[in-house]
Amino acid sequence: MQIKDILKLEPQNQKIEIQGWVRTKRAMKNMTFIEVNDGSCLAGIQCVYALGGGADETVERITTGAAIRITGLLTPSPATGQKVEAACKEIEILGEAGAADYPLQKKRHSLEFLRTIPHLRGRTRSIGAVMRIRSRLAYATHNFFQERGFFYIHTPVITTNDAEGAGSMFQVTTLDLKKTAAKWTADGVIDYKQDFFGKKAYLTVSGQLEGETYATALSRIYTFGPTFRAENSNTSRHLAEFWMIEPEAAFFDIHLNMELAEDFLKYLFADVLKNCEEDMAFFDEYVEKGIIKNLEHTAEVKFERITYTDAVLELEKNKEKFEFKPFWGCDLQTEHEKFLTETVAKKPVIVTDYPKGIKAFYMKQNKDGKTVRAMDVLVPKLGEIIGGSERETDMDLLENRINELGMKTADYTWYLDLRRYGSVPHSGFGLGFERLVQYVTGMANIRDCIPYPRTAQTAV
Ligand code: 4AD
Ligand code: MG
Repeated sequence: MQIKDILKLEPQNQKIEIQGWVRTKRAMKNMTFIEVNDGSCLAGIQCVYALGGGADETVERITTGAAIRITGLLTPSPATGQKVEAACKEIEILGEAGAADYPLQKKRHSLEFLRTIPHLRGRTRSIGAVMRIRSRLAYATHNFFQERGFFYIHTPVITTNDAEGAGSMFQVTTLDLKKTAAKWTADGVIDYKQDFFGKKAYLTVSGQLEGETYATALSRIYTFGPTFRAENSNTSRHLAEFWMIEPEAAFFDIHLNMELAEDFLKYLFADVLKNCEEDMAFFDEYVEKGIIKNLEHTAEVKFERITYTDAVLELEKNKEKFEFKPFWGCDLQTEHEKFLTETVAKKPVIVTDYPKGIKAFYMKQNKDGKTVRAMDVLVPKLGEIIGGSERETDMDLLENRINELGMKTADYTWYLDLRRYGSVPHSGFGLGFERLVQYVTGMANIRDCIPYPRTAQTAV
């Protein structure tokens, strides 16, 4: 039985078996208290060993971090804050953790230090709690979409197209770089016909374009997979490898798309509040005071909707507050996004109708010729958490945009076919999964929201 289930039992001196890792050991005169945690929940179970019980020598050898198995009796606990404890009968050490070198000796370690030991940090209370919340958010994501008739589609990780047209992709090759480099300096060309796929290939930045092909077949789909961006953004909200959830729905205009995004976020917040009470209480106490109230509030309020043009007017009124001076046509910076949510609206904001020049080629163009039907959801503390749009269905406009951006229509024949055959209005968005985890837990850095963070210039 896992510790989370043992802790819920009525203590009746029944026999139980506990397996886990030692969080702390306190030796008193006649008693030793060992707190054991197995990661199934935040709390550990207090195990009490009375000296002379036949396992003195084993108990002596137990250290923080050791893996142990205890059989004992579940009894009511006299201590405050815990309903039950275990009276130890037999104790077995499954794996020792040398007191001299086990890196997690102290009760508290800085998150920066923990990033240097990603293989062990899951055993700490904070990272353990983050990963349990992460798991629940993934589960809730599938529930949300499956309940609404969306099918889970697995889009490719290796691709030959740049979905966002931003050019910050990791190249995938089996060419021998040393030999290729030598050749390259000689004649300046690399023959990608000799590469694995016979042409240049990359890791995907988004599953959207392939997602669209299935949305125009099954009507409603979502992807949920790893995506990769080689942008050199060393910030607390960027990763080079992150997970993205991308729903795409046929017959959805931008308004239905916004409603879907808002409902989705609210559903996720309500779900963790209900199902991760213990971990959320931990974040509320140690990571961000008031986060539970905040999430409760966000799960209820109507998100603000504002056009990019109005948002910029609002920002221009407060020019002096920003390092990057806002102007119509500028990409919104995190400081702008935070101002709009934290100071202006005091809740999440959906910004729509961005200038086409700062958005991807596939977004539906408005009649004004200047803006596109984009929709970004911004949240306090973080800024952008969702980016999406209604998609362009007009063949000419789409082809022109591809050409204008210096991309080749020949590379997007299959994508253009969707407009050629049975084209329908459709929309979708992408939610950065780690940004979601960050928002829900209040963790300051996105690197602490994924088991193994990949960022520029860090060893993997
Ligand atoms: O706004 P983005 O670039 O949108 C797309 O990729 C679209 N194809 C989505 C769609 O319409 N299907 O990225 C979507 C979200 C962002 O709002 C952000 O939450 C997250 O992905 N994101 C990142 N998260 C962590 N690290 C990065 N480097 C990220 N870049 C984007
Ligand atoms: Mg975006």
